[in-house]
Amino acid sequence: MTEPLVLGIETSCDETAIGIVRGRTLLANVISSSVEEHARFGGVVPEIASRAHLEAIHSVLNRALADADVSLNDIDAFGVTAGPGLIGALLVGVSSASGLSLALNKPLYGVNHLSAHLAVDALNSDHQLSPAIGLLVSGGHSSILKVSDFASDVAVLGSTIDDAAGEAFDKIARILKLEFPGGPAIDRVAKEGDASAIDFPRGLTNDSDHLYDFSFSGLKTAVSRYLQKVPDAKVADVAASFQEAVVDVLLGKAIAAAKANGMEALIMAGGVAANSRLRQVAAERCQAAKIHLRTPPAALCTDNGAMVAALTSLAVSRGLPASSLGLEAQSSTGLEQVIWR
Ligand code: KG4
Ligand code: ZN
Repeated sequence: MTEPLVLGIETSCDETAIGIVRGRTLLANVISSSVEEHARFGGVVPEIASRAHLEAIHSVLNRALADADVSLNDIDAFGVTAGPGLIGALLVGVSSASGLSLALNKPLYGVNHLSAHLAVDALNSDHQLSPAIGLLVSGGHSSILKVSDFASDVAVLGSTIDDAAGEAFDKIARILKLEFPGGPAIDRVAKEGDASAIDFPRGLTNDSDHLYDFSFSGLKTAVSRYLQKVPDAKVADVAASFQEAVVDVLLGKAIAAAKANGMEALIMAGGVAANSRLRQVAAERCQAAKIHLRTPPAALCTDNGAMVAALTSLAVSRGLPASSLGLEAQSSTGLEQVIWR
């Protein structure tokens, strides 16, 4: 039997994205982003995002099918991000996917956005996927996960108790008067700065009650205070030192979790995993710790449809049941539910 051809739809935030995979092979990954429409508001405006999804989804679908050189009738299963995310934005994807599934009489899988970020690791490779420790760092989440099975068993070892890592990047960028989204802006500016210029705090590093949890609010306060005290500080030095503190905490805890759980592999995913300094230090520290680092190409770390297709494809090949038609989008959901019932 040939491997399943799976189409995945992602509309949880500001990217209208569709990916197509065959088994673990990526065939198409089309993304239309409304990020520029949100930039002047300094954050994603839900109503604008939903409208942009409605406007973009049809052409994104056609482009993805053309790139993969397949027709809708060839698709064996559809996947869609059903949560977490902005509810109005999720609904556009879930309604579109439900319509396609119904019209073409093919199964539909509602999938968890967070697991999908990790599942992109399956693409264009044949390595054994699990067990592994997952470091998921995005705009809405920062977690350390114990991945026993991508499609059915992901346990949370720790998460942020306040801001997510991406949120911290976005907020600090605003304080530094850099553009939105702040992650890529800080990444770029930090390259010109000295990462050891300022010794910013590493939150929750010596707290045995929060071994694998993160806290970034103290770091945010420290950066604000520093700028009040040293108003003419070099922006690049502040950006680089802030970024170094985040990278240090993320990797310190993720590698400790891998060692404590006897895991040989660390998967790093989510928008912040596109950060060039995080990728560089992760490679160095994992090599030193003899841990196999797996991190998707930067373009597959930020939101995309390929990750949804990848997770759906794993669910199909495991023979997991499809979701019921009428599945509900859920704006806030943890990892208890990887595939919607
Ligand atoms: O995974 P993602 O695309 O969307 C969510 O699911 O949240 O993550 C978006 C977050 C934003 O906060 C953005 O600033 C951050 O990822 N980000 C980065 C970089 N690229 C995106 N953070 C640091 N460095 C980057 N290069
Ligand atoms: Zn995401």
